[in-house]
Amino acid sequence: MAYKVSKRKLPLREDKQLHEINKIAGRVFDRKTLDVLVRMLNAGIFRSLDYPIASGKEAIVFRATTKTGYAAVKVYKYETSSFHHMLPYIEGDPRFKAVRRKRDLVQLWARKEFANLQACCVSGISAPEPIAMRDNVVVMEFLGEKGVPYALLEDVIVEKPAEVCDAILADVKKLYRDADIVHADLSPFNVIMRKQEPVIIDWGQAVLTEHPQAENYLRSDVTNIVKYFGRLGVKRELETTLEKIMHG
Ligand SMILES: Nc1ncnc2c1ncn2[C@@H]1O[C@H](COP(=O)(O)OP(=O)(O)O)[C@@H](O)[C@H]1O
Ligand SMILES: [Mg+2]
Repeated sequence: MAYKVSKRKLPLREDKQLHEINKIAGRVFDRKTLDVLVRMLNAGIFRSLDYPIASGKEAIVFRATTKTGYAAVKVYKYETSSFHHMLPYIEGDPRFKAVRRKRDLVQLWARKEFANLQACCVSGISAPEPIAMRDNVVVMEFLGEKGVPYALLEDVIVEKPAEVCDAILADVKKLYRDADIVHADLSPFNVIMRKQEPVIIDWGQAVLTEHPQAENYLRSDVTNIVKYFGRLGVKRELETTLEKIMHG
Protein backbone atom coordinates (compact mmCIF):
# COMPACT_ATOMS: atom_id res chain seq x y z
CA MET A 1 0.00 0.00 0.00
CA ALA A 2 1.61 3.21 -1.15
CA TYR A 3 1.34 6.41 0.82
CA LYS A 4 1.74 9.86 -0.53
CA VAL A 5 4.00 11.68 1.86
CA SER A 6 3.41 15.35 2.33
CA LYS A 7 6.78 17.01 2.53
CA ARG A 8 5.65 20.57 3.00
CA LYS A 9 6.56 21.06 6.65
CA LEU A 10 9.79 19.13 6.63
CA PRO A 11 13.23 20.71 6.79
CA LEU A 12 15.50 19.97 3.86
CA ARG A 13 17.66 17.32 5.51
CA GLU A 14 14.74 15.23 6.71
CA ASP A 15 13.12 15.63 3.35
CA LYS A 16 16.17 14.12 1.70
CA GLN A 17 16.32 11.28 4.21
CA LEU A 18 12.65 10.51 3.72
CA HIS A 19 13.27 10.34 0.01
CA GLU A 20 16.13 7.90 0.51
CA ILE A 21 14.10 5.67 2.84
CA ASN A 22 11.20 5.71 0.43
CA LYS A 23 13.48 4.68 -2.39
CA ILE A 24 14.75 1.68 -0.43
CA ALA A 25 11.41 0.68 1.02
CA GLY A 26 9.60 0.93 -2.29
CA ARG A 27 7.12 3.33 -0.72
CA VAL A 28 5.68 0.61 1.47
CA PHE A 29 5.70 2.61 4.69
CA ASP A 30 3.00 4.72 6.18
CA ARG A 31 3.80 8.20 7.35
CA LYS A 32 4.15 7.24 11.00
CA THR A 33 6.75 4.56 10.25
CA LEU A 34 8.72 6.95 8.04
CA ASP A 35 8.72 9.49 10.88
CA VAL A 36 10.15 6.92 13.29
CA LEU A 37 12.87 5.92 10.83
CA VAL A 38 13.81 9.56 10.24
CA ARG A 39 13.94 10.20 13.99
CA MET A 40 16.28 7.25 14.37
CA LEU A 41 18.44 8.54 11.54
CA ASN A 42 18.57 11.97 13.15
CA ALA A 43 19.40 10.43 16.52
CA GLY A 44 22.37 8.71 14.88
CA ILE A 45 21.11 5.18 15.58
CA PHE A 46 21.91 4.41 11.95
CA ARG A 47 23.17 6.43 9.02
CA SER A 48 21.21 4.85 6.21
CA LEU A 49 18.86 2.01 5.41
CA ASP A 50 20.65 -0.06 2.81
CA TYR A 51 18.33 -2.77 1.52
CA PRO A 52 15.63 -5.17 2.73
CA ILE A 53 17.14 -8.49 3.87
CA ALA A 54 13.78 -10.19 4.18
CA SER A 55 10.13 -9.28 3.99
CA GLY A 56 7.37 -11.31 5.60
CA LYS A 57 3.72 -10.79 6.37
CA GLU A 58 4.35 -9.07 9.68
CA ALA A 59 7.73 -7.40 9.30
CA ILE A 60 10.48 -6.24 6.97
CA VAL A 61 14.11 -6.53 8.09
CA PHE A 62 16.63 -4.08 6.63
CA ARG A 63 20.36 -3.89 6.75
CA ALA A 64 21.35 -0.45 7.97
CA THR A 65 24.74 1.22 8.09
CA THR A 66 25.88 2.69 11.40
CA LYS A 67 28.89 4.74 12.46
CA THR A 68 30.78 1.58 13.35
CA GLY A 69 29.36 -1.04 10.99
CA TYR A 70 25.89 -2.41 10.40
CA ALA A 71 22.62 -2.97 12.22
CA ALA A 72 19.47 -4.94 11.45
CA VAL A 73 16.32 -2.81 11.46
CA LYS A 74 13.08 -4.73 11.84
CA VAL A 75 9.96 -2.80 10.91
CA TYR A 76 6.67 -4.36 11.98
CA LYS A 77 3.92 -3.66 9.46
CA TYR A 78 0.76 -1.97 10.66
CA GLU A 79 -1.26 -2.98 7.64
CA THR A 80 -0.75 -6.70 7.18
CA SER A 81 -0.20 -8.02 10.67
CA SER A 82 -2.90 -10.36 11.86
CA PHE A 83 -4.58 -9.18 15.04
CA HIS A 84 -6.10 -12.59 15.72
CA HIS A 85 -2.85 -14.41 15.16
CA MET A 86 -1.02 -12.08 17.54
CA LEU A 87 -3.53 -11.77 20.34
CA PRO A 88 -3.13 -15.20 22.03
CA TYR A 89 0.57 -14.57 22.65
CA ILE A 90 0.02 -11.58 24.91
CA GLU A 91 -2.69 -13.17 26.99
CA GLY A 92 -1.75 -13.05 30.66
CA ASP A 93 1.59 -11.32 30.17
CA PRO A 94 1.80 -8.81 33.05
CA ARG A 95 4.58 -6.93 31.24
CA PHE A 96 2.12 -5.78 28.59
CA LYS A 97 -1.34 -4.52 29.30
CA ALA A 98 -4.30 -5.48 27.14
CA VAL A 99 -4.64 -3.64 23.85
CA ARG A 100 -7.57 -3.18 21.57
CA ARG A 101 -6.30 -1.48 18.42
CA LYS A 102 -4.15 -3.33 15.90
CA ARG A 103 -1.72 -0.41 15.82
CA ASP A 104 -1.13 -0.82 19.56
CA LEU A 105 -0.72 -4.54 19.20
CA VAL A 106 1.90 -4.12 16.45
CA GLN A 107 3.83 -1.64 18.63
CA LEU A 108 3.53 -4.01 21.55
CA TRP A 109 5.06 -6.71 19.37
CA ALA A 110 8.10 -4.52 18.79
CA ARG A 111 8.35 -3.71 22.51
CA LYS A 112 8.04 -7.38 23.33
CA GLU A 113 10.75 -8.35 20.84
CA PHE A 114 13.06 -5.69 22.30
CA ALA A 115 12.36 -6.72 25.91
CA ASN A 116 12.96 -10.38 25.03
CA LEU A 117 16.26 -9.54 23.30
CA GLN A 118 17.31 -7.66 26.43
CA ALA A 119 16.36 -10.63 28.61
CA CYS A 120 18.42 -12.94 26.36
CA CYS A 121 21.36 -10.59 26.65
CA VAL A 122 21.15 -10.67 30.46
CA SER A 123 20.84 -14.47 30.61
CA GLY A 124 23.61 -15.12 28.08
CA ILE A 125 21.33 -16.63 25.46
CA SER A 126 22.59 -16.45 21.90
CA ALA A 127 20.40 -13.79 20.24
CA PRO A 128 21.04 -10.46 18.46
CA GLU A 129 22.00 -7.66 20.82
CA PRO A 130 19.23 -5.08 21.18
CA ILE A 131 20.18 -1.55 20.10
CA ALA A 132 17.06 0.63 20.00
CA MET A 133 13.28 0.47 19.73
CA ARG A 134 10.55 2.94 18.99
CA ASP A 135 6.91 2.34 18.06
CA ASN A 136 6.97 -0.46 15.49
CA VAL A 137 10.73 -0.48 14.79
CA VAL A 138 13.37 -2.63 16.49
CA VAL A 139 17.08 -2.05 15.84
CA MET A 140 19.43 -4.88 16.71
CA GLU A 141 22.85 -6.30 16.08
CA PHE A 142 23.37 -7.25 12.44
CA LEU A 143 24.26 -10.93 12.13
CA GLY A 144 26.57 -11.16 9.18
CA GLU A 145 30.06 -10.81 7.89
CA LYS A 146 31.44 -7.96 5.80
CA GLY A 147 27.90 -6.65 5.46
CA VAL A 148 26.47 -9.93 4.14
CA PRO A 149 23.86 -11.52 6.41
CA TYR A 150 24.53 -15.02 7.68
CA ALA A 151 22.21 -17.79 6.48
CA LEU A 152 19.43 -19.48 8.41
CA LEU A 153 19.94 -22.91 9.99
CA GLU A 154 17.41 -24.17 7.45
CA ASP A 155 19.72 -23.14 4.58
CA VAL A 156 23.18 -24.22 5.73
CA ILE A 157 25.08 -27.46 5.88
CA VAL A 158 25.69 -28.10 9.57
CA GLU A 159 29.15 -29.53 10.17
CA LYS A 160 28.56 -30.74 13.72
CA PRO A 161 24.80 -31.22 14.05
CA ALA A 162 24.89 -32.75 17.55
CA GLU A 163 26.80 -29.74 18.94
CA VAL A 164 24.51 -27.24 17.26
CA CYS A 165 21.40 -29.11 18.40
CA ASP A 166 22.61 -29.24 22.00
CA ALA A 167 23.64 -25.57 21.93
CA ILE A 168 20.10 -24.60 20.87
CA LEU A 169 18.53 -26.85 23.49
CA ALA A 170 20.86 -25.44 26.16
CA ASP A 171 19.66 -21.94 25.23
CA VAL A 172 16.03 -23.08 25.34
CA LYS A 173 16.66 -24.36 28.85
CA LYS A 174 18.39 -21.15 29.99
CA LEU A 175 15.54 -19.21 28.44
CA TYR A 176 12.97 -21.24 30.35
CA ARG A 177 14.78 -21.52 33.64
CA ASP A 178 16.68 -18.24 33.97
CA ALA A 179 14.71 -15.80 31.84
CA ASP A 180 11.23 -17.39 32.33
CA ILE A 181 10.57 -17.12 28.61
CA VAL A 182 9.43 -19.51 25.88
CA HIS A 183 10.27 -18.50 22.32
CA ALA A 184 7.03 -19.95 20.88
CA ASP A 185 8.10 -19.87 17.22
CA LEU A 186 11.38 -21.74 17.33
CA SER A 187 12.33 -23.58 14.14
CA PRO A 188 15.28 -23.77 11.71
CA PHE A 189 13.78 -20.65 10.08
CA ASN A 190 14.34 -18.59 13.23
CA VAL A 191 17.92 -19.62 13.90
CA ILE A 192 20.75 -17.81 12.12
CA MET A 193 24.09 -19.58 11.85
CA ARG A 194 26.99 -17.33 12.86
CA LYS A 195 29.62 -19.56 11.30
CA GLN A 196 28.73 -22.76 13.19
CA GLU A 197 27.15 -21.03 16.20
CA PRO A 198 23.34 -20.92 16.32
CA VAL A 199 21.76 -17.53 17.12
CA ILE A 200 18.03 -17.45 17.85
CA ILE A 201 16.03 -14.62 16.22
CA ASP A 202 12.41 -13.44 15.88
CA TRP A 203 11.30 -12.77 19.46
CA GLY A 204 8.06 -10.80 19.05
CA GLN A 205 5.74 -13.65 19.95
CA ALA A 206 7.83 -15.11 22.81
CA VAL A 207 5.85 -15.53 26.06
CA LEU A 208 6.58 -15.73 29.76
CA THR A 209 6.52 -19.17 31.37
CA GLU A 210 3.41 -18.10 33.28
CA HIS A 211 1.47 -17.78 30.00
CA PRO A 212 -1.34 -20.39 30.00
CA GLN A 213 -0.01 -21.97 26.80
CA ALA A 214 3.70 -21.73 27.69
CA GLU A 215 4.22 -25.46 28.10
CA ASN A 216 2.50 -26.22 24.81
CA TYR A 217 4.65 -23.63 23.02
CA LEU A 218 7.75 -25.09 24.65
CA ARG A 219 6.76 -28.57 23.53
CA SER A 220 6.25 -27.37 19.98
CA ASP A 221 9.58 -25.45 19.95
CA VAL A 222 11.52 -28.46 21.21
CA THR A 223 9.68 -30.80 18.83
CA ASN A 224 10.73 -28.64 15.85
CA ILE A 225 14.37 -28.72 16.89
CA VAL A 226 14.51 -32.40 17.84
CA LYS A 227 12.77 -33.40 14.58
CA TYR A 228 15.03 -31.25 12.42
CA PHE A 229 18.21 -32.62 13.93
CA GLY A 230 16.72 -36.13 13.93
CA ARG A 231 16.80 -35.89 10.13
CA LEU A 232 20.51 -35.01 10.39
CA GLY A 233 21.14 -38.16 12.43
CA VAL A 234 21.06 -36.60 15.91
CA LYS A 235 18.84 -38.63 18.20
CA ARG A 236 17.35 -36.61 21.06
CA GLU A 237 14.27 -38.06 22.67
CA LEU A 238 11.48 -35.49 22.99
CA GLU A 239 10.09 -36.31 26.45
CA THR A 240 13.52 -36.69 28.07
CA THR A 241 14.69 -33.43 26.50
CA LEU A 242 11.57 -31.58 27.69
CA GLU A 243 11.97 -33.04 31.18
CA LYS A 244 15.61 -31.85 31.30
CA ILE A 245 14.64 -28.38 30.16
CA MET A 246 11.82 -27.97 32.66
CA HIS A 247 13.10 -29.85 35.69
CA GLY A 248 16.57 -31.30 35.03
N1 LIG B 1 19.76 -9.50 13.35
C1 LIG B 1 19.70 -9.93 12.09
N2 LIG B 1 20.80 -9.93 11.30
C2 LIG B 1 20.74 -10.37 10.03
N3 LIG B 1 19.62 -10.84 9.44
C3 LIG B 1 18.49 -10.87 10.17
C4 LIG B 1 18.47 -10.43 11.53
N4 LIG B 1 17.22 -10.58 12.01
C5 LIG B 1 16.49 -11.09 11.00
N5 LIG B 1 17.24 -11.28 9.89
C6 LIG B 1 16.76 -11.81 8.59
O1 LIG B 1 15.42 -11.39 8.39
C7 LIG B 1 14.54 -12.52 8.30
C8 LIG B 1 13.22 -12.22 9.00
O2 LIG B 1 13.47 -11.95 10.38
P1 LIG B 1 12.52 -12.50 11.51
O3 LIG B 1 12.93 -11.81 12.77
O4 LIG B 1 12.53 -13.98 11.52
O5 LIG B 1 11.11 -11.93 11.08
P2 LIG B 1 9.76 -12.62 10.57
O6 LIG B 1 8.79 -12.32 11.65
O7 LIG B 1 9.45 -11.93 9.30
O8 LIG B 1 10.01 -14.11 10.40
C9 LIG B 1 15.31 -13.67 8.91
O9 LIG B 1 14.91 -14.90 8.37
C10 LIG B 1 16.74 -13.34 8.56
O10 LIG B 1 17.02 -13.75 7.23
MG1 LIG C 1 11.11 -15.50 11.38
